[in-house]
Amino acid sequence: MTDTLRTCVFPCAGFGTRFFPATKVIPKEMLPLVDKPILQYGIEEARDSGMNKLVIVTSKGKDTILDHFDRTAELERSLRERNKHDLLAEVDLVSRMVDLISVRQKEALGLGHAVLTARDAVGNHPFAVVLPDDVILAEEPCLLQMRRVFEETGRPVIALMEVSAEETSRYGIVAGELESGRRFKVTDMVEKPKANAPSRYAIIGRYILPPEVFPLIEQTERGAGGEIQLTDALRALVQQGDFYGYVFEGTRYDAGEKLGYLKATVDYALRHPQLAREFRAYLESVAAPPAVTAPESETVAAS
Ligand code: UTP
Repeated sequence: MTDTLRTCVFPCAGFGTRFFPATKVIPKEMLPLVDKPILQYGIEEARDSGMNKLVIVTSKGKDTILDHFDRTAELERSLRERNKHDLLAEVDLVSRMVDLISVRQKEALGLGHAVLTARDAVGNHPFAVVLPDDVILAEEPCLLQMRRVFEETGRPVIALMEVSAEETSRYGIVAGELESGRRFKVTDMVEKPKANAPSRYAIIGRYILPPEVFPLIEQTERGAGGEIQLTDALRALVQQGDFYGYVFEGTRYDAGEKLGYLKATVDYALRHPQLAREFRAYLESVAAPPAVTAPESETVAAS
């Protein structure tokens, strides 16, 4: 029987340079997507996929991340005194949502290193990794879709997304074969292939991994950009046995860069129960094509 999956790691210790200057002081995980910080979507996804031990990897200056999920006695008292019960309920819901374990990555040495920092907190059990700035809008949480494959196979599972041939050079791409339905048997991976991509399936920020990955990360040399890359350790893991990808159902946004963030904002706002109607009307008003007035020459020709 496979060990129960209940731990999820959220690496939040990067610099967020693609979103400068907004993220110079504010962690990108705390940028609001409509009315919740980006990280909260990932936390809700993990919770709704049955994870109850959540490990946040932070770095200096990112304490607001933990504060957001903490009790705020003074604020709660003030809301209670002013009879703002609906707001109180919302604030209360967030602080009761989860208990977080926080670990510090002292130096931003890459995603692989961030995951390794969580080793003691994870222990000798399988665990999930969610990159919070990969926000996924889906009927069924992406991690839950992947969890099923993990429970069927007991093997590592990574989320995959089909991209166009032109886009393959921007992602880690898997080699292997699409088995039944959405399950992909991975035989190798290539980081940002300039040519001859082995498939059109890109690796995005959701992973279910066994604890055996930790020694492999430890053995990983610094790679691209001087960072310890998670992909390098995953390539070693592929050599150790069956390794799966899952072409998840849903839409993924890269909310860690400006355009992806804007797209996510629009799509989430269009689904927000209180905002959707008016926001849609607003978008339609700004997107309406300008009134057509026939150019003068045409008018002349027609007369
Ligand atoms: P990214 O490359 O997307 O994040 O890393 P970044 O480095 O913060 O962003 P840019 O490229 O400078 O804009 C993927 C994930 O890994 C985490 C990031 O926080 C993000 O969730 N990460 C990255 C760490 O936790 N530690 C690191 O040393 C590097």
